Amino acid sequence: MFTSDDFQRAADGILDHLTIQPQIGLVLGSGLGKLADELNPRAVIPYAEIPGWPASTVHGHLGNLVIGGLEGQAVAVMQGRAHFYEGYSLQQVTFPIRVMKALGIHTVILTNAAGGINKAYQVGDLMLLEDHINLPGMVGANPLMGTNDDALGRRFVGLAQAYDRLLREQALRVAAQRGIPLRSGVYCALSGPAFETPAEIRMLRAWGADAVGMSTTHEVLVARHAGLRALAFSGITNRAIDQVDSDLETNHEEVLEAGEVIVPRLSAMLKGVLNNFPT
Ligand code: HPA
Repeated sequence: MFTSDDFQRAADGILDHLTIQPQIGLVLGSGLGKLADELNPRAVIPYAEIPGWPASTVHGHLGNLVIGGLEGQAVAVMQGRAHFYEGYSLQQVTFPIRVMKALGIHTVILTNAAGGINKAYQVGDLMLLEDHINLPGMVGANPLMGTNDDALGRRFVGLAQAYDRLLREQALRVAAQRGIPLRSGVYCALSGPAFETPAEIRMLRAWGADAVGMSTTHEVLVARHAGLRALAFSGITNRAIDQVDSDLETNHEEVLEAGEVIVPRLSAMLKGVLNNFPT
């Protein structure tokens, strides 16, 4: 288990590189890291240089924390993240979120690649997370389990509004104003790394999930525990396969390829949210 000292030490090391104090954290998922190139001016800190910070071992995750200005906001952008399926503990997976809190950040905006479960969803769609189903968390893999440090947050966290309402409204306004097609739906997280069976997809659909992925919910739990506001988007990189013997198979390459289509939309969306950020 990490302690407050570990988060603070990592944050102090990061602040040593900076002349600005980041206010908003962005987590860019599989194949979505390019937005960080637009920051101005930038400090690029490889994850390996931050004590305690988990490296991402997955292709498509660049592994840098990039800090700078974007649309008038001071942001800290994670180019890639660590996942539970890589063998990290959920404390390690969510370490960056607690470091963001120690940096003085007030809001995290998370992105991920996800399979579309909702039958109306197409590859390349962007989905605003209205809510989530945290399946690993519901069955005992929850980053908030263990002794609670009251200095970090409360023992029992309310999640009736895990994703900040004002920020979601801002995202919907940006989508309408800039003509960005945006879905609003429920994201279900599984631990992975295997993709789902068709029977699992039909089950998740019956449960009310619109998209499925392998990240984000753990980070949102820790963010809410820390009192950070959260907003999240899924890029629909593939349609989840819901029938056996369909001759289709989900693969990581298609996930990365679709990321290329999603990046411009997601960039426009994130910039729109940052510009005119609701307080
Ligand atoms: N399932 C789980 N995770 C994913 C998928 C999927 O179909 N696509 C991208 N990440």
